[in-house]
Amino acid sequence: MKLGVCYYPEHWPEALWADDASRMAALGISWVRIGEFSWSRIEPEPGQFDWNWLDLAVETLAAAGLKIVMCTPTATPPKWLVEAHPDMLALDASGRPRGFGSRRHYCFSSEAYRVECARITEAVAARYGRHPAVGAWQTDNEFGCHDTTLSYSPNAARGFRTWLAQRYQSVEALNRAWGAVFWSQEYRDFDEVEPPNLTVTEANPSHRLDYNRFASEAVASFNRLQVAIIRRLSPGRDITHNFMGFYTEFDHFALARDLDLASWDSYPLGFLEQFWFSSEEKLRYLRQGHPDISAFHHDLYRGVGRGRWWVMEQQPGPVNWARYNPAPLPGMVRSWTWEAFAHGAEVVCYFRWRQVPFAQEQMHAGLNRPDNVLDQGGLEAGEVAVELAEFGELAPCHRARVALVFSYEADWQFSVQPHAEGFRWLQLAFDMYAALRRLGLDVDIVAPDADFTGYGLVIAPSLPIVETATLAALEASGAVVLFGPRTGSRTRDGHIPQNLPPGPLQARLPVRVSRVESLRPGAGPEVEHSGRTFAGRLWREVLDTDLAPLATFSDGGVAWTSCESWHYLATWPEASLLDLVIARVALEAHLPIEALEEGVRMRRRGDVQFAFNFAPDCRHTPAPAGVRFLIGGPELPPAGLAAWRVASP
Ligand code: GAL
Repeated sequence: MKLGVCYYPEHWPEALWADDASRMAALGISWVRIGEFSWSRIEPEPGQFDWNWLDLAVETLAAAGLKIVMCTPTATPPKWLVEAHPDMLALDASGRPRGFGSRRHYCFSSEAYRVECARITEAVAARYGRHPAVGAWQTDNEFGCHDTTLSYSPNAARGFRTWLAQRYQSVEALNRAWGAVFWSQEYRDFDEVEPPNLTVTEANPSHRLDYNRFASEAVASFNRLQVAIIRRLSPGRDITHNFMGFYTEFDHFALARDLDLASWDSYPLGFLEQFWFSSEEKLRYLRQGHPDISAFHHDLYRGVGRGRWWVMEQQPGPVNWARYNPAPLPGMVRSWTWEAFAHGAEVVCYFRWRQVPFAQEQMHAGLNRPDNVLDQGGLEAGEVAVELAEFGELAPCHRARVALVFSYEADWQFSVQPHAEGFRWLQLAFDMYAALRRLGLDVDIVAPDADFTGYGLVIAPSLPIVETATLAALEASGAVVLFGPRTGSRTRDGHIPQNLPPGPLQARLPVRVSRVESLRPGAGPEVEHSGRTFAGRLWREVLDTDLAPLATFSDGGVAWTSCESWHYLATWPEASLLDLVIARVALEAHLPIEALEEGVRMRRRGDVQFAFNFAPDCRHTPAPAGVRFLIGGPELPPAGLAAWRVASP
């Protein structure tokens, strides 16, 4: 459990570097991430490298005993490179180039850009790969940030055609898979296929789904190119990439197979402001972040990293990029850091060492103010460092008893055909996760092809395309399983299954969806459960089944049912109903549950139980009486946390 910081020596006079490095070390920082946006300084002219400054920066950090995460600078190609290869730019869905002047101005499918990336990666890795202070690598920076996974450039179109030819072998097979006879969309040759943009009305959904799959693989192969070079030139170092929050446009499980560990960039206040949360939630958790936002991603990226993960960028104060950018409550930077460790993080790196007084992010806080005085975030990082030194190491996270199945493809399928405005797979998954966490359950977030052995409860928020192998693995695990609406509603090609939804699931859970409807907010559907009336959200399925209902719609239709501990939901339950559903399946799985006070969350790591308060007022620590606290005590103040020892799992 170590602390780190993101540092940009190229932004500051050399005279400051040695002092920066010694102050970092004194603050208790072990890792420093550098280089990810520095291409124009490393190679100011094509083929002319200036290593002097970076050599000095590396030596200065190393001399202070700091370890370095070296990055490839491929998120910010310099102007000369764009001039040399103007067709390396991505085109947006309207066909406009995504030009120079900020960052991420490249198309993953540009072969010319890939050659340049391989060249700069080779140069940086050859120079620093075996340096004793370089302990880890980050490829690029936040793949997909600023909406850059999907590009509609001629390069992408070419790549897509090759990808389609491999996938379908014959254009007849493609026409069948896409149902291209509809509206006379049939192709005579793969070369006739275009990306699914600039159509008069919506493009064919199977075409769009395949475009998502193609784009996802393009990001993974772009990353793999760099990883292969770094592995060759920098043996024994961990390679990671910094993923984002609430971002689903490529399959992170697939990409991370090439990495040693996952990392992600945690901005709890920015995410609360930018995503779907209600104004009440945005006000209530304004300075703490929603109780489940950071935890959800910690659990996701632990899964993506096959157990190994870092926070590569931790919000240290107000950010610059949300609609509104409040300052965290004093104590929250400390609490977020401990929360990450409680969920199994190996390292938490703060973004950034010092607020930079120029350019796009001048309004983004750092650990230090622009005048080099330690800011609130810096003070709290220092506090954590002192606490960590007393705390010692913790075992990695044990396997949780609950798994939540996270499918990037499911998210694409929903967004291709939401059928209701705002019906977002990611939000449905988040809602189910939050309900589990309100009951004090630890959760692993896993891929659909996971081994489910050992889980007592598996939640599949929705798997529109459900593989028989997933069903077999779930059956083999013996877990209680809950499937959300729209599961089994599509084949691999994106068609409605011949036996109707939920397709292959019917063999095990005999329900058939004979009709669906979507409803505007406020229009229900109403759901009756144990004598109370609740609301479903946006969606209602009509189930043909002889199974007994656990909840019904107001017309008597089945809203929730189960068969031998596999459950099916025919709507998206509002939070209060979801709490009851999750409590019921958890009890069926014999899991200990405890309704936590509003804003309180728990997480266990090894033999230590942590509790966190995200509410703006005091809470009680949900610890047994008389326990000896390692951190905190029986009261959880706002932004407070507590930790105590429990019997080993
Ligand atoms: C991240 C990005 C950083 C910085 C930060 C600001 O998305 O990786 O480079 O821009 O946001 O919060």
